[in-house]
Amino acid sequence: MKITLDYNNMMTDYVGRYGVSEQDISELKPQIEAAVAAMKAKRAAMAWRDLPYNQAETVKEIKEYVDEMKDSVDAFVVLGIGGSALGPMAVQQAIHNPYYNELPRDKRGGFPKFYVADNVDPEKLAYLFTVIDPEKSLFNVITKSGSTSETMSQFMIIKDLLENKLGDAAKEHIVCTTDGKTGNLIKIAQREGYSTFYIPSAVGGRFSELTPVGLLPAAFCGIDIEALLKGAAVMDELCSADDFEKNPAYIFAVLNYIALKQGKNICVMMPYADSLKYMADWFAQIWAESLGKKYDMNGKEVWAGQTPVKALGVTDQHSQVQLYTEGPFDKVIVLVGVEQYRETLTIPKLYSDMPSLGFLGGVTQNKLIQTEMMATEYALLKSGKPNMTITLPEVNENTVGQLLYFFEAATAFAGELLNINAFDQPGVEEGKNAAYAMFGRPGYEEKKRELEARPAKDERFIV
Ligand code: PA5
Repeated sequence: MKITLDYNNMMTDYVGRYGVSEQDISELKPQIEAAVAAMKAKRAAMAWRDLPYNQAETVKEIKEYVDEMKDSVDAFVVLGIGGSALGPMAVQQAIHNPYYNELPRDKRGGFPKFYVADNVDPEKLAYLFTVIDPEKSLFNVITKSGSTSETMSQFMIIKDLLENKLGDAAKEHIVCTTDGKTGNLIKIAQREGYSTFYIPSAVGGRFSELTPVGLLPAAFCGIDIEALLKGAAVMDELCSADDFEKNPAYIFAVLNYIALKQGKNICVMMPYADSLKYMADWFAQIWAESLGKKYDMNGKEVWAGQTPVKALGVTDQHSQVQLYTEGPFDKVIVLVGVEQYRETLTIPKLYSDMPSLGFLGGVTQNKLIQTEMMATEYALLKSGKPNMTITLPEVNENTVGQLLYFFEAATAFAGELLNINAFDQPGVEEGKNAAYAMFGRPGYEEKKRELEARPAKDERFIV
């Protein structure tokens, strides 16, 4: 059960002059070969590549913890942001009934409800307490650095609330996922005695979904985490092929790289399944935060990156697709289809006297969504808009594991082609540091001076 990538419509032979030609690819071969060699040489340093294979002990500990805790927990709440929240959300949405939280507990397999608080919007966090009882909830504080203000602020609010209600027993309602060596959270967890799972130090935030960051929340909602890891291993094998034309992640990166050089600086990710909507969000983060870089690996200013855009089929056919077909030639559109949906719905044979409606009678919604995707693919092709299609045989733990790993490998390879460091995020750090300086955090005095030296805003430009 493997996911596939069909890139016919990226090629000039199909899509015309705005596509990628075989000559474009062949001219890039020396650079591709260098990137393939770099991926091999750096494999040991890319600790995320070992995750499908080296977590038997972690999986065992997670399962034991879930067995011990699950019956006493009504709601499992993730507190995290970015790479510490998007993966758990994407996997949960992909695998479960979209109305999971509204199902009675037995229809959830006896597992708790699932929530993610990934912002510091005071309304959202306050409203969470209108639907959960903190005394029957387990809060999973996830932060690799152990110091992200957003996550730590949520933790502090919730810890205080729990302690006021429960005293010492509060600690049974908090479980931490963090780096075992650095950051404030590990120190707090050790001092206050919280159960803790560890994120391997060498795995960065957005590449951490297959560590306890994603595995614990998934297991807590009854998702088969071993199948998730097996899917990732299947994709790792495919993505280890040196021949880039046989390697789905490499060819995806090569095509986007060439398209980018030709001015297509947008990559639209458009799944035709509500279950994969957050997967497009997760992709947006890994593609944007990894590839958006000012400097290349030689320290030269390059301002690299391709802007990811999230869309949903068919919903966005009635919103964004007009732009995709008739707007500028500045994007690659990636459609994500599903062969076998987990439900089948047949449209009843009504209104046969009205031909413009009657044709739908007896057709399944499954066929309708798939046909609409093919129709959009055709409309894009006809307009000369480069596009490709990823197909999942079905959405399940195995194929979701494949998809996560596919995007991770494609991102790392695109980073090599762009000659940038795909694993850091100095632009994000800049914003974090400016916020610390604005709060007067000790150690950020220099940054504060820098901020205060910026030009004052001119009232003329505020209306
Ligand atoms: O990919 C990244 O490194 C970031 O998106 C982080 O995941 C995000 O900033 C949250 O960081 P942390 O897990 O340290 O709280």
